[in-house]
This record gives sequence, structure tokens and C-alpha cells, in this order.
Amino acid sequence: MSPEGRRPGALVVTGGSSGIGRATALLAAARGWPVLASVRNEADAAGLEAAGCATARLDLRSEASIEAFAGAVLDWSDGRLAGLVNNAGTALPGPVERLDLDAAREQFEVNVFGAVGLTQRLLPALRSSRGAVVFVSSDRAPVAVPLYGAYVAAKRALEGFAEVLALEVADAGVGVSILRLGSFESAIRGPIRARLDALDGDDPEYAAPIARARASLGSPPLHPPGLAAEAILRLLLAPAPPLVACCPEPA
Ligand SMILES: NC(=O)c1ccc[n+]([C@@H]2O[C@H](COP(=O)([O-])OP(=O)(O)OC[C@H]3O[C@@H](n4cnc5c(N)ncnc54)[C@H](OP(=O)(O)O)[C@@H]3O)[C@@H](O)[C@H]2O)c1
Repeated sequence: MSPEGRRPGALVVTGGSSGIGRATALLAAARGWPVLASVRNEADAAGLEAAGCATARLDLRSEASIEAFAGAVLDWSDGRLAGLVNNAGTALPGPVERLDLDAAREQFEVNVFGAVGLTQRLLPALRSSRGAVVFVSSDRAPVAVPLYGAYVAAKRALEGFAEVLALEVADAGVGVSILRLGSFESAIRGPIRARLDALDGDDPEYAAPIARARASLGSPPLHPPGLAAEAILRLLLAPAPPLVACCPEPA
């Protein structure tokens, strides 16, 4: 890698419809990167396309969708990628004792196996231009909190894959980073709040952690998604990106 670092080039961002993925796609496009963002719904594509991003459908729960998306990316990029941002994710809270394991498995499909499966398919294109991968994780990966068992476990699993991958592709010049985010404004809190509300009624044993989780959901400061987008682009361009970075950075 040159001392100046990596250069902007074809960039793929998953979960481009909202929050941090959308902010990353829009910021990169505004800075001249060719960007392809994944969406699940047609309606989410228009705003991204108006800002100059290409879009393609991706549902990380489906192998067939991941395969088709990777094919679309390789056609779009001519097989050379500067960056992949594995951003798409979900977080559904619930006490471990009460976890619906099918829902937990689905969370792993999106947050872990979907991201790993897509990365597998795009690695040859990343290797050919010595690109970089960012795995979007959470400050809840290293520090567990009650009710987020499936999310904490999924982000830890994602980080495990990322750490091993970083060792495996270092000699090929491919950068791999984990970005642990604090609390950001995004759509992710809507489903979390709805789930906490649903738990509230029938879970007297967990009333205290549910109340604390609800209070912490709305507590400031929520950072703007653009701050995370800046951190992601910095990692993609770094000559020697750190394995783990945090946003905001610890004081
Ligand atoms: N916001 C925070 O405070 C925070 C903190 C720590 C970590 N994070 C991480 O940041 C990342 C982005 O989250 P966000 O806060 O920006 O939330 P968000 O606004 O809810 O965005 C999540 C994105 O993931 C997509 N997605 C969900 N399920 C998917 C699936 N099955 N297949 C493909 N895409 C799917 C969503 O698409 P749809 O719009 O179609 O649902 C959306 O584009 C996540 O990995 C999250 O864990 C966020």
C-alpha cells in the first residue's frame, strides 16, 4: 500500500436505505466515489439514485439474493472494488430466557452470515484493487448490556470473522476494519422501541431492565449518521487501517 493510502474507487454499501448506510453512500458519492448501495425496497432507491448512487436489491436473509447482488456489483464495478461497507443490520431486544430463537437466527443471518457471504463473493474484486472492507459493529460488542443477547452475540461473531479475515488477506493488501459505533440517530430505534413495548406487558420479571433499556434509547447524545460516515470513509482510505476503530472515539 502506498504511503498516501488507498484511493477512492468503486464502493459498495449495504443497508443504503436509511441511517448510517445512507449517510455513507451519500457522503462518498458527494466526494466523487462511484457508489452502489443496497436497498430492499424500490421506493428507497430513488433518493440515492438522484444523488448519483447506483442501487441494487439485497436481502441478506437470502442466499439467492446475496448471489444476485454480488453479480450485480461485479458487473457494475468491472470486477474491481475499492471498498465494501458491511453496514446493514438489525437489533431486536429480548431477555435471553425469552428469546425467540428463530428471530435470533434471523438476526445472525442478516448481521453475520449475510455479511460474511457477501464479503466472500466480493473478495476477489477487492483483492484486485487492494481495497478495504469495513464491518459496522457496535460498542455493545465488547460491553454487553441486558436484553441485547442476540445483538451482542451477533456483533461479536461478526467481529470474530472480521479479525480472522484481516489476518488472512493482509498479505494481499486488503484492509479489514471493525467500526464500533456508539449511539446514532437512525431508523434502528423504531423496531427496538416497539419490541420493548411488546415485552413490557408480559414480562414482569424483566420490568426493570426493560425500563432502563427504554430510557437509554432516548437518552442523548445521539450522534448524526454523517459522523459515522466520515469515520467509515477514513478507514477505507487509510494506508494501514486499524483492526478496531470506534466512533465517536473514546475521550
Ligand atoms: N444507530 C445506532 O445507534 C447504532 C449503534 C451501533 C451500531 N449500529 C449499526 O449500524 C448499522 C446500521 O444501522 P442504522 O443505525 O443505520 O439502522 P437503520 O437506519 O435501521 O439501517 C439498517 C439498514 O439495514 C438494512 N437491512 C435490515 N435488514 C436487512 C436485510 N435482511 N437485508 C438487507 N438489508 C437489511 C435496512 O434496510 P430496510 O430499510 O429495508 O429495513 C437499513 O438499510 C447496523 O449494523 C447497526 O447494528 C447502529
